[in-house]
Amino acid sequence: MDPAVPTSFDDDPAIGRVLLSEEQLTRRIEELGAQLTQDYAGRPPLLVCVLRGAYVFLTDLARSIDLPVQIDFIAVSSYGATTRTSGVVRLVKDLEVDLTDRDVILVEDIVDTGLTLRYLRRSLEARGPASLEVCALLARESADLEGLGVRYVGFTIPNDFVIGYGLDVAERYRNLRYLAVYDPDAAAEPS
Ligand code: IMP
Repeated sequence: MDPAVPTSFDDDPAIGRVLLSEEQLTRRIEELGAQLTQDYAGRPPLLVCVLRGAYVFLTDLARSIDLPVQIDFIAVSSYGATTRTSGVVRLVKDLEVDLTDRDVILVEDIVDTGLTLRYLRRSLEARGPASLEVCALLARESADLEGLGVRYVGFTIPNDFVIGYGLDVAERYRNLRYLAVYDPDAAAEPS
């Protein structure tokens, strides 16, 4: 273990101010679940979780939907180990379920530049689903949600890089129970 990497969240100076508490996250996700339960009544959707960032959101969202949903996973990568997008999206793991004639909801952690979403939408639409909607926990204020066709959003947030509740920096902080601002000046960029 790199001695510069803190071994406890308590003494990690890179964890900045709390942007969304556990309670705020829980309350809003229950609202989203209730909305999806209403909108998809009689046609239980397939939830496509975008790994890895959306895995925590997916587990809470799925349990807030009172319908027999199905779940599958897709993995893409555009960030590597930094806080800046590489600008190139790569498919790392594909779905196993056939999307033909399915009502699909793409479950994303955060819509930032929209690059990932545009790539995924193109890939999934080509598989002939009956419908395809996007449910993102977070969206940047700057994101063009209408242009990207994002129907469901948990919270709109400013431009700070955030960690926790599934979101990471170099695979760390995903298991923080809340969402915090990442303070890169307080931490050496992980190698
Ligand atoms: P986009 O392609 O620029 O929209 O970036 C989307 C992906 O980048 C998300 O699914 C996240 O995995 C990652 N990402 C963007 N902003 C953040 C952040 O603030 N914290 C952690 N991951 C982020």
